[in-house]
Amino acid sequence: MTNKIAQFVALVALFIQCGTSVYAQKTSAKNIDTRVAALLAKMTLEEKIGQLNQVPGDISTGTDVAKDDLLTQIRSGKIGSLLSHTNFQNKITMQRVAVSETRLGIPLIFGFDVIHGYKTIFPIPLAQAASWDMGIVEKIERIAAEEASADGQNWTFAPMVDVSREPRWGRVMEGAGEDPFLGSRVAEARVRGIQGNDLAANNTLAACVKHYAGYGFSEGGRDYNTVDMSEQRLREMVLPPFKAAADAGAATFMNAFNTLNGVPASMNKFLLENILRGEWMWKGMVVSDWNSFGETIVHGAAADDVDASAKCLNAGSDMDMAGGTFQRGLKRALESGRVTQAQIDEAVKRVLHLKFALGLFDDPFRYLDPKRRNETLEKPDYRTFAREAAAKSMVLLKNDGGLLPLTEGSRFKKIAIIGPYADSKGNKDYMSFWTLGLGMREYDSTKVVRPAQALKPALEAMGYQVTITEICIDAMCTEKDYSAAINATREADLVIACLGERGLDCGESRCVSSLNLPRDQERILSITGRLNKPIVAVLFNSRPLVFDWATQNIPAILVAWQPGFETGNALADVLTGKVNPSGKLPVTFPKNLGQVPLYYNHLNTGRPQQQQGQMWTSGYLDSPVTPAYPFGFGLSYSQFNYSNMKLTKPQYKMNETIEVSITVTNSGKVAGEEVVQLYIRDISADIARPVKELKGFEKINIGAGESRVVTFRLTEKDLSYWNNEAKFKADPGKFKVFIGGNSRDVNELDFELIK
Ligand code: NOJ
Repeated sequence: MTNKIAQFVALVALFIQCGTSVYAQKTSAKNIDTRVAALLAKMTLEEKIGQLNQVPGDISTGTDVAKDDLLTQIRSGKIGSLLSHTNFQNKITMQRVAVSETRLGIPLIFGFDVIHGYKTIFPIPLAQAASWDMGIVEKIERIAAEEASADGQNWTFAPMVDVSREPRWGRVMEGAGEDPFLGSRVAEARVRGIQGNDLAANNTLAACVKHYAGYGFSEGGRDYNTVDMSEQRLREMVLPPFKAAADAGAATFMNAFNTLNGVPASMNKFLLENILRGEWMWKGMVVSDWNSFGETIVHGAAADDVDASAKCLNAGSDMDMAGGTFQRGLKRALESGRVTQAQIDEAVKRVLHLKFALGLFDDPFRYLDPKRRNETLEKPDYRTFAREAAAKSMVLLKNDGGLLPLTEGSRFKKIAIIGPYADSKGNKDYMSFWTLGLGMREYDSTKVVRPAQALKPALEAMGYQVTITEICIDAMCTEKDYSAAINATREADLVIACLGERGLDCGESRCVSSLNLPRDQERILSITGRLNKPIVAVLFNSRPLVFDWATQNIPAILVAWQPGFETGNALADVLTGKVNPSGKLPVTFPKNLGQVPLYYNHLNTGRPQQQQGQMWTSGYLDSPVTPAYPFGFGLSYSQFNYSNMKLTKPQYKMNETIEVSITVTNSGKVAGEEVVQLYIRDISADIARPVKELKGFEKINIGAGESRVVTFRLTEKDLSYWNNEAKFKADPGKFKVFIGGNSRDVNELDFELIK
């Protein structure tokens, strides 16, 4: 058999050598490896290094014209991939040059940051995670991939799967929050949505799992900053979503910008060679982050381009994004014996493999069909779904006295909608910096349904009188801006205050040193709050914010996140009760910045604090250690009661399935969805274990007055953990199992794991 394959390879190679101008796509072989080998055999060193070079496009330069020098570089085989190109025609031109004007006709691969939708903008990823609905997460990615692929993109730099406990970090909005279990489920769903079942289909993209690894733990929540952690923490908290994404078939990975325990991630053999390609046996291609090969020099871990090239390639990174380091240094690294030809070939093979898998050799214009583009972008159905996704992502934090929903015939007649985000038309508000698919210059705020636009008619149709008062919050604002809000509040029976962050303040390089409602917005609340009118605070945020005054004084608080195009409609659906809120926080909301990092799955310490002020315990003199809102928290217009929690036995052997069930009753007046969450605590392991670890969840719909029994099954794997010898194992001994609607308010039982 092996012999036959060898003969076949030789035949193909012969055909190529004698044949026409060597298009690998013209080989008849079905097997990608064979086709890659045949093509590789024809490539010069320069052409190989060209395949490892990825060059940025119009987003970074601000122009959407394919520049001559780009075309010249493509023509001379110096570019294997492009990123951030928005202009469709330019992509056609560039692809045509690549396949018909280069010696080998190797197609380009176009990469793009498709972070929460491409042309139709969905809620930010953190909000998607707050839905705890993997069907929603997957479908968002499916639609995003449909649109992006129809616009000529082949590869998205998503999902971002960085677990993070850092609300200061601007990129916390791009991940799934602080928990590795939830993060893993979200990572799988996103890969499924992006890649579908067939990478070669014209409506799927290759996924790129990022940022490998540790980026979410950068010191001080500062982008690009140092990460230092034990291997135990790395394996337990950081790596699981990466592993889950790899197992789900993700085609590519991206290096992180940070150092991990002193070694820049792009040249980190431990991460790439030992774990990713070694332990996990993952076969895909690794791309750097933007110039992260070059930045190894700035980190102080490489002397020059040659050294950086050698170190990054040696570690197992393949493609150089936007840095040109390989272009400048890789050839000399080979000549000086710092890397081998075989190593370069391996990297090139991975790039070519991806291009074959995407079907680009079979039809380089597969993703560049103008007709499909016209038919696909911004379909009305996508918007309908964006509305549902946004509504299901919102998290109701407070609803004293059942102030919400606002229904017909309520005692409130006049509603004032106030605040800087009542009707904002700028700053990519209600979205984020990561809406690059809309283009930078073509950005059109009319695509977003703003809160006032949807709320006013929805509330008026129910008989309310509605006024809208925007409040200016830039440096130029004066007291007059506040007096408008005060007057509107005076006139009203109820106030909806739309507050939060600017859309442009969410994303990369958007870290903050204060978590307070930005630009003094708590003042808006406290001024209007003193007028004794009921206030519903709606927060448009991309990270946990601090709003303790509001928590103490405002009866209703809704976290809307940055909901995307359908912001206003989704908000109206939730505030009027058309949609019963069901989101739950995927991150802890602290009471104050000083508590950060604050996360639910912490260790107990030897002196846990029960209440503030208790001396000789682990706490602060001036603050409690408990959060404002815990992980997993979120209210509904229904009330869910948990009862009758049962384990099938008090003791289980290692290989036995542990079955635990609970009855959830909706004692409210309306049907609602509840995220039933299961946590464990290992009481007597060989090392100290977190006070709670999420190990399962189920989102269920329960009719008013009805009950559902929810059953979870746990195996030895669920009770296992990474120890300090990098072993994943379960220890016999005592465990607790908790079930509840958030990580704090739970029912619990004990069981024992025996040999
Ligand atoms: C840098 C970011 O860290 C990464 O996530 C992104 O994909 C690239 N730039 C490309 O825009």
